[in-house]
Amino acid sequence: MCGIVGYVGPRPSQDILLAGLARLEYRGYDSAGVAVIDGDGSLGMRKKAGKLAMLRDSLKDAALAEGNTGIGHTRWATHGGPTDENAHPHLADDDKLALIHNGIIENFSALREELLADGVSFRSETDTEVAAALLGREYRTNGGDLQGAFRAVVNRLEGAFTLLAMHQDHPGLVVGARRNSPLVIGLGEGENFLGSDVAAFIEHTRKALAIGQDQIVSITPESVTVTDFAGTPVEAEPFDVSWDAAAAEKGGWSSFMAKEVAEQPEAVANTIRGRIQGDQVVIPELDGMDELFLGINRIIITACGTAAYSALVGKYAIEQWARIPVDVELAHEFRYRDPVIGDDTLVVSISQSGETMDTLMAVKYASERGARTLSICNTQGATIPRESDAVVYTHAGPEVAVASTKAFSAQITALLLLGLHMGRVRGTVQDASVDVAELGALPEKIAKVLESEQEHVTQLAGWMADTRSVLFLGRHVGFPIALEGALKLKEISYIHAEGFAAGELKHGPIALIEPGQPVFVLVPSPRHSALVHSKVVSNIQEIRARGARVIVVAEEGDAAVLPFADEVIRIPLAGAMFEPLLAVVPLQIFAMALATAKGLDVDQPRNLAKSVTVE
Ligand code: F6R
Repeated sequence: MCGIVGYVGPRPSQDILLAGLARLEYRGYDSAGVAVIDGDGSLGMRKKAGKLAMLRDSLKDAALAEGNTGIGHTRWATHGGPTDENAHPHLADDDKLALIHNGIIENFSALREELLADGVSFRSETDTEVAAALLGREYRTNGGDLQGAFRAVVNRLEGAFTLLAMHQDHPGLVVGARRNSPLVIGLGEGENFLGSDVAAFIEHTRKALAIGQDQIVSITPESVTVTDFAGTPVEAEPFDVSWDAAAAEKGGWSSFMAKEVAEQPEAVANTIRGRIQGDQVVIPELDGMDELFLGINRIIITACGTAAYSALVGKYAIEQWARIPVDVELAHEFRYRDPVIGDDTLVVSISQSGETMDTLMAVKYASERGARTLSICNTQGATIPRESDAVVYTHAGPEVAVASTKAFSAQITALLLLGLHMGRVRGTVQDASVDVAELGALPEKIAKVLESEQEHVTQLAGWMADTRSVLFLGRHVGFPIALEGALKLKEISYIHAEGFAAGELKHGPIALIEPGQPVFVLVPSPRHSALVHSKVVSNIQEIRARGARVIVVAEEGDAAVLPFADEVIRIPLAGAMFEPLLAVVPLQIFAMALATAKGLDVDQPRNLAKSVTVE
């Protein structure tokens, strides 16, 4: 939540900041602002409520003076509504100092009282302005040492924060700090960058440094210094960014979401690459963990939202292949009860961003309780993998649209790989050749669904643009896909949608069925279980008898569904654990097409941010 970018170097910073913010806008988009220190050493600042485009327009109308030191921010409001005043940067020290922030300063009330008593007045309702004012006061009293003042301030703050600050008396210097919120350094030639994630600067450099918790960084064009909050120098961990800049561009697509849905074959293929040896799955990153996989009695997978639905698919796969009991827990629930975990438990976290605060806190909690932790993550240098004992990266590339699509497919793929890897190690999978072949065939099959069903599903969504409610039913691994289909629809179309386990229907939800109610039913292949298939077909008959409009997602050749379906969406034949990766695609297309038919912004749905870095 909130995107942060900083630049020092020889180039005019404003355009670099705006381009960085455009790549970070997925993190929040209810206001944006930039500040630059110009050649004469004076600080210019502009901020606007609304999307980044509003800030751009304002800068077009009246440009800031050029300057090569700058900071920029895109906001997801926490304290104070999305207004010009509450947007960042916030200024202090007679507007010579600018500060931006991501996170929540929990002790801001007490600090604000202290500053008010000291005669400070505030222009906004934010916790951030308190940090700016505190920094201004400290800077004035310590004789103009920006780094010293910044260190003193971060030590007084409680909560989660990434802060960047600069002062017009120190052109060529940006200071930053992080506690439980993300910040990475981009290393250029004679220039350096700071960003909430690497997307902020991949256009300029692929060399990066990860900053640890409770660390402070100072960048100048020629130097990067990292210390802890006490000022003791620490080593930052270098890494090369594997994403390329083009991957974070919309290209010719109508939306990032459309592009990312289409990129799923590649996301899945890239996640599998390098992890198959002959007929076996071998994840090189998990080398040396065999003893752990043999010793654990239990796995808990923890995640939020879409990532948690991928975890539900993972539960089926890991239990089937590795024969270890798996529980899936929403990260924000897990931490606030007293779960039974210990050194015989492996806690697997799943996160596209690697920064979701609820998930991060669950990982930390699990480590404190003695559990071993493994993360499945899409973003290099992010906090969750750094806090985990091991990481399996998904290689979906940057996901910019707020609604997760290709990251979800890559997460399921990683979980399938993990299940087969652990099954091999534990000796519960003797021959993985069929499953390995299924994995290898996935990209092509996903591409086939995209090609064959895009037009049909888009048309269907167009006809249903006035629909007020859609239900999704699934069974076995189709159940999490029903949940995901409903989430996609509500999140970008603002339509009431619910996913149910098909067998649960008769225990309550069937009361919702009235004539004309659209219901998507994910039908598992009869080849996997004739019994489960026949139960789902019975469920279809039950809702059809009550007037539901039934849209079936079924494998090619399944004729049993035809008499009861108003529409049939076909997916290629696949193994039971692999079907979710095919069945989810038409549901993503449907949500996207329906939102588009309603004239909505599919990439940036209201009230949401992609990376939820507050609890
Ligand atoms: C929905 C969506 C969210 C995220 C959730 C976790 O489309 O994107 O539900 O899946 O906020 O985010 P990550 O995976 O970044 O931890």
